[in-house]
Amino acid sequence: MPMEWNVEGIGESAQTLILPLFEEVAKAPNKATSGLGRSTSAQVREAVVSDDFDGKSGKSLTLWNSGQKVVLAGMGLPENLAEKDARDAGAKLLASLSKQHGKSLTVRFTTGWRPGQMIAFAEGMMLRDYKFDKYQQKDDGDDDDDSPYSVTFQASDRYLRALHDGCARAGAIAVGVHRARDLGNEPANVLYPMEYAKRARAWAKGKDNVKLTVIEWAELKKLGMDGLVNVGKGSEHKPCMVIFELNPDARDGPCPMIVGKGITFDTGGISIKPSGGMDEMKFDMHGSATVFGLMEALHGIGHQQPVIGISCMAENSLSSTAYRPGDVINTYSGKTVEVLNTDAEGRLVLADGLWKAGEFDPEFIIDLATLTGACVVALGHEATGLWSNDDALRERLRKAAESVDELAWPMPLLPAFEKQVKDSKIADVKNLGDRYGGANSAAAFLKQFVPERGEGDDAQQYPWAHLDIAGTAWGTSTNDMVAHGATGVHVRTLTHLLTEQ
Ligand code: BES
Ligand code: MN
Ligand code: ZN
Repeated sequence: MPMEWNVEGIGESAQTLILPLFEEVAKAPNKATSGLGRSTSAQVREAVVSDDFDGKSGKSLTLWNSGQKVVLAGMGLPENLAEKDARDAGAKLLASLSKQHGKSLTVRFTTGWRPGQMIAFAEGMMLRDYKFDKYQQKDDGDDDDDSPYSVTFQASDRYLRALHDGCARAGAIAVGVHRARDLGNEPANVLYPMEYAKRARAWAKGKDNVKLTVIEWAELKKLGMDGLVNVGKGSEHKPCMVIFELNPDARDGPCPMIVGKGITFDTGGISIKPSGGMDEMKFDMHGSATVFGLMEALHGIGHQQPVIGISCMAENSLSSTAYRPGDVINTYSGKTVEVLNTDAEGRLVLADGLWKAGEFDPEFIIDLATLTGACVVALGHEATGLWSNDDALRERLRKAAESVDELAWPMPLLPAFEKQVKDSKIADVKNLGDRYGGANSAAAFLKQFVPERGEGDDAQQYPWAHLDIAGTAWGTSTNDMVAHGATGVHVRTLTHLLTEQ
């Protein structure tokens, strides 16, 4: 359940008061102790000047007096507290709370806090307030009950408007991030392609500015979406394409398109993966999870412009009906592919998704995919790989990602890699490159399926960017916003990108 929150001037305090304080505050700011009993106030004032609390970043001290709890949280120097640091601090603070602090909190911003920092701190708390425990039994001894946090953010009157609007936006976006995390964490026996479609339908229901289309198995075959068909046909859970249209009635020109890889489980197919760590391949649909979460975030903040999301859903399984290495398959674009490795399946489903995007008059196309282990080798869990055929789009995306602290790192889209994938003896392209630089080969493969505006000699590919999130969608232990599991990566990046002025 999302955190309940409100914003008000400094006044009373809940049972637990959080006081994020800067280093070098010589004494407790006047209003810091507002609403506390006399002895608690005295305790706070003494603690702040004592050697036990220095306000250094990461340091905290909890005081207790007749049931009233006060958490002093050190923030370092105000001029050093970038929004990223404030967000991390809010996340860490939330993570440090225990049952004793209760669910009802007052977070009080006093001397030195600027609105951008307050909002980021609140955002960090909201983002970190997440758990995926639906499959665990609860008992009374549990450290946690299921009720949501109820948090009052307090600041000087002149900041309340900005703080309120900022929290409202951050809260709506956090719901989208948590949706993406839920989908990424959901095991593959529960979340298969048509279950994703079902959840998308349930979400879209009753929203008059959301149109949802599901292209199911029979229609995929009829339309010749053979990338999806071949990857998904080995599983009893058949593939589908899910199309989200936000604000379709407002469409009167080119529209941003977001395409996600949605492999609900990747066994590797006949080119089967080794079993160690294979369980994690339930998150191979995180591109599609981000698409869904993004739609929910945009809808939640009241976004008025049209945006279209396309999720390419399939389970890459192995059976007597699975596609094989050596198969030559068709794709929706008409290009044929020689399948050299059935584990390079993401690019095949995306080929159909990218081509489908071309039918909507795209302004640009951005795809997200847990596409290659090679990208994890290159960038670890710290940055998403970013490829683009358009310098301006690449830079916009890089900046948007950086500004919300979800780094996307430019990688080379070189003709040499395109040459590799075009080098099939028997089909138009092959789904494998050379031994090295596999993340670049994958990007070069996708580029073969980016649709064009115009025809003949004037034809030009739509601006397109590819985000390889294999390393950033899961297992980012250095990310304070995420404890473990699916991360919801790039819901915030794309929300920022699509709503910037
Ligand atoms: N889903 C995997 C990529 C992946 C690996 C994501 C590790 C997250 C963590 C993808 O479908 C895959 O198997 N890629 C192959 C491509 C290869 C066969 C060219 C890979 O990276 O090994
Ligand atoms: Mn694979
Ligand atoms: Zn995969």
